[in-house]
Amino acid sequence: MEIDVFTLFPEAFTWFAAQRHVTNALAGGHSLGLVNYRDHTPLSGRQVDDTPFGGGAGMVLRVDVVEAALRARYGRDPVALAAERRVLALDPGGRLFDDALVDELAAEPAVTILSGRYEGFDERVVEHFASDRVSIGRYVLAGGELAAMVVCDAVLRKLPGSLGHAASAVEESFSAALEGGPEYPHYTRPAEWRGWAVPEVLLSGHHERIARWRLEQSRARAARSGTDFMEREHRGGNGPLA
Ligand code: 6GU
Repeated sequence: MEIDVFTLFPEAFTWFAAQRHVTNALAGGHSLGLVNYRDHTPLSGRQVDDTPFGGGAGMVLRVDVVEAALRARYGRDPVALAAERRVLALDPGGRLFDDALVDELAAEPAVTILSGRYEGFDERVVEHFASDRVSIGRYVLAGGELAAMVVCDAVLRKLPGSLGHAASAVEESFSAALEGGPEYPHYTRPAEWRGWAVPEVLLSGHHERIARWRLEQSRARAARSGTDFMEREHRGGNGPLA
C-alpha cells in the first residue's frame, strides 16, 4: 500500500521510518511518503497558517496551502481525490482509532494522512478534502505528528511480511483469534524468580492445554477490565463525536 503523510515536520518521522516493521514493509513494495506543506505553499515566506476568523488563540492551517500540497503530490483537484482513496484528517474530536479501523485501512491500496498543527485545520480542509476525521484518543496533542505515526505504525505492522514472524499479528490483542479480547500473559526464562513461578501449563509442552489456558486468560482479562472488547462486532459508529 501507499501511505502519504502531509506534515509541517517531516523530520519528526526519521526515527519512525527506520523501525524494522516499517523498513520491512517498504522492502516488500509498500511506501511511506512524507510531504511538507511548506514546500508547496503559494504564500510568501513559506507561510502555511493564519489567525482564526472570529478571534481566539492559536493558528490554523490554511485551506489554500493544503490544497496546493495535495495538488503537487497527486496532480489533481483534492476534492476528487477523497472519492478515490482514504484521506484522513487527524483531529482530536474524530472517529476513535481502533483495531477495526486499522484493519479497514490496512486493506486499502492507498491512504493519505493530513496532519495539522496549532489549532488544527481550516474546517474546509476536512469538509472538502478528507474522507475521514480520525482521533487516537480523547486528549489533545500539540500536533498531529505523533498521531500520524500511531496510525502508520498500527497499519504497517498488519501488512504481510512487515513483522518478522508471520503469526505475530494473528493471535494478538483484539484479534478474532482471541475473540476481540486482550492478549494473554507471556513469560520467559527464568522459570522462577524470587519465588515467582511461571504457570506450570506453559512448561508442559502440551500445545492444546496451552492454547486453552491462553484463551481462558484472555477472557479473564477482558472480564476484569470491564471493557466491552466485543464492541467491534456490533459497533454502530463511534459515539457522538464520530
Ligand atoms: Cl489526531 N491530533 C491531535 N492534535 N491531538 C490528538 C489527536 C489527533 N488524537 C488525539 N489527540
